[in-house]
Amino acid sequence: MSNISLTDILKEFRDPARDSLIPILQREQQQRGFISKEAMIVIGEKLNLPVSKVYGVASFYNQFRFNAPGLHQIQVCRGTACHVKGSSTVLDSLEMDVGCKSGETSKDGLFSIEVVACVGACSLAPVVVVDGEFHAGMDSTKMRKINKTLRKVHNAER
Ligand code: FES
Repeated sequence: MSNISLTDILKEFRDPARDSLIPILQREQQQRGFISKEAMIVIGEKLNLPVSKVYGVASFYNQFRFNAPGLHQIQVCRGTACHVKGSSTVLDSLEMDVGCKSGETSKDGLFSIEVVACVGACSLAPVVVVDGEFHAGMDSTKMRKINKTLRKVHNAER
């Protein structure tokens, strides 16, 4: 992610019209990892759309996030093979452990949880991807261990 401002992003779109909404949202998310309320207001003003409309369109697509991403991204696969092998239990205990739901970021800003479709490693089900790294045969205990390690590393770095 870089530091291109929303103003600069909007300049990339000459005469932005309503059909520019999705591409603008995509560019903004690419830069900051999420779409803030403030960004939706600015985009709405530029496109002459009420903020409720901007949010309505953005929330229709699950590619957009509305919370700042956590330091660590945890993706829980909920594809069929992972589901059969108990991914919902892993997800439940993960949400309890970090204190936020899927699609949210934990209050301490350390973790973001996302539920994803099959990540293409069904033979390793249930699979959880942490910061791009695949973890196979996950259960609640293994998940808590990973989180504990990440917290430890974070605390040691402070
Ligand atoms: S269903 Fe989870 S990796 Fe395929």
